[in-house]
Amino acid sequence: MDFQESEFFIFKMKEALETIIIDVRDTAPGLENRAAFEAYKATIQGPNGSLTAVMKSMGKLLREEKPAMGKLINEAKAEINEALSQALATIEAAELTAKLGSAIDPSLPSVEGDRGTLHPIAQVREEMVALFQRIGFSVAEATEVETEYFCFDALNIPKDHPARDMQDSYYLPNELKMQNVPKHKEEQYLLRTHSSTVQIRTMLQKNPPIRIIAPGRCFRRDTPDATHSANFHQIEGLYVDQDVSLTDLKATLDYFVKTIFGPKAKTRLRPSFFPFTEPSFEMDFFSPDLGKLSNKWLEIMGCGMVDPEVFKAVGIDPQAYTGFAFGMGIERIAMILQGVDDIRYYYQNDLRFLKQFA
Ligand code: PHE
Repeated sequence: MDFQESEFFIFKMKEALETIIIDVRDTAPGLENRAAFEAYKATIQGPNGSLTAVMKSMGKLLREEKPAMGKLINEAKAEINEALSQALATIEAAELTAKLGSAIDPSLPSVEGDRGTLHPIAQVREEMVALFQRIGFSVAEATEVETEYFCFDALNIPKDHPARDMQDSYYLPNELKMQNVPKHKEEQYLLRTHSSTVQIRTMLQKNPPIRIIAPGRCFRRDTPDATHSANFHQIEGLYVDQDVSLTDLKATLDYFVKTIFGPKAKTRLRPSFFPFTEPSFEMDFFSPDLGKLSNKWLEIMGCGMVDPEVFKAVGIDPQAYTGFAFGMGIERIAMILQGVDDIRYYYQNDLRFLKQFA
């Protein structure tokens, strides 16, 4: 090639590159699917493609002409690739939409994220509620803020009982007005110290037969340690009907203990005292299958026959009706079942602890 021919050749190569770029810019955005895209791309970059032809003709150039031409070709290539990859991205997005249906379903759950679970105390509470429901108890509820009447007086708890002391219970400011909690006389509001308040509220609301359990939060001014927490949970049971006997109480508690701690568990009642039951007992149980706690009598609840004074307070005739009541701490049962040796773990919200019960 002489100089003139070479000059013309370079001009032709530049022209070819320009034509290709314009063609790609015009054509690529209109390619509708992957097959059309691949076919078009082959006409540019394939073995017989237009860009490939320009690149091949480099060989005919004089050595000193090559670097400048090479640079032009690389720039053209970058531009062509940019236009092609944009076109491919549009086609891929359309393919994805077609696969998913017309739109993305926003109701699908996220792929990330842990599934929540019930708190270990709630798990035990649910288990206890379910087993009492199976034998005909239904769930009753009452407020956590109470009046002294429902917490103490109606339950025959005398004026000098330590629970009534400001040091032992959480009293609320005198001027506080609570809705739906009628106050008697000059008494004060307090956070309920036990779930036995629900006995009174239920018996005032309905006539016997009554068969309820009342799970809920209670509060006492305890200094927190491994077995005490100022806020804790109890489950209360009450059964009132004609001819309810101590045998019924014992049978119900046997069923509870065997269901929750296994068929080999045994119960025993020890005489005790509560102002609202007569006679009163502490119930202990014993199980050979409890790891470190096996084969020891463990105290888990207070119980007894409803005191006639309580029936009188709620207008039930103690000649016609008898009843039993029991109350226990849910944390105590949970700690035994779950092998937890410090009650404070339940309230620290430490996921390393909570996840063990997921
Ligand atoms: N309320 C009692 C307590 O908190 C437990 C109890 C309930 C005892 C019902 C007897 C009957 O200690």
